[in-house]
Amino acid sequence: MSVNPFIIVAIDGGAASGKSSTSRALSERFNLLHADTGSYYRAITAEMLRRGASPGDIGSVRSALADLRLGTRIEGRSAEIEISGRATGDDIRSREVNDAVSHFAAIPEVRAALLSFQRGQAGAARKGAFAGLVMEGRDIGSVIFPDADFRFFLHADTSERERRRVKQGQEDRVTERDRLDSSRKASPLSRPEGAISIDTTQLTIEEVTDRMAAVIAPRFAA
Ligand code: DC
Repeated sequence: MSVNPFIIVAIDGGAASGKSSTSRALSERFNLLHADTGSYYRAITAEMLRRGASPGDIGSVRSALADLRLGTRIEGRSAEIEISGRATGDDIRSREVNDAVSHFAAIPEVRAALLSFQRGQAGAARKGAFAGLVMEGRDIGSVIFPDADFRFFLHADTSERERRRVKQGQEDRVTERDRLDSSRKASPLSRPEGAISIDTTQLTIEEVTDRMAAVIAPRFAA
């Protein structure tokens, strides 16, 4: 074990399973760069909608993708996406984006456009002198970082997840998105083999974070 380890933590799970809150908490606790890959798919979706591209018209998606330049902007401990120099806005959580994102995310070309960008966040974390990277999404432990130091899979009952979205003031059909995200051919949402599975239904954010932190902390022990 090195004195200053650099770790990669992969967190996967369905909509409103608790990924973002726990990822942010872990990034604070261990000084990790946080990458919310759902926000990357959302930003691309918002851009596609702005350009009039439709998931049913692969030609329109391809020509829009060919124009996009992806960049990273580090805000505090968060690795945000920039598309052609533009930061993401609140529109990535809009109802239009919620309804469209799973359809765009199912397109292999869209996933391919984000693959090296996502892997590149490990380099951004090293460059920024972080102790590692915590990346959340649907295929992080299975496709993006299958060799991550720690891989978690969060899940929760549907009614609880719907309740969380309502509490956040969001209109989001979590069941429908999960159905689409789990059934697509390209990198579907699934529990990666060997990942630590946590049912967050009855747990607070702190409890989930503590469980994960207890697994990670020994790596940083002198
Ligand atoms: O985490 P989120 O709910 O903000 O993600 C939005 C959508 O992005 C989700 O419905 C599917 C897609 N997504 C994906 O396909 N792969 C990822 N690694 C992250 C998100």
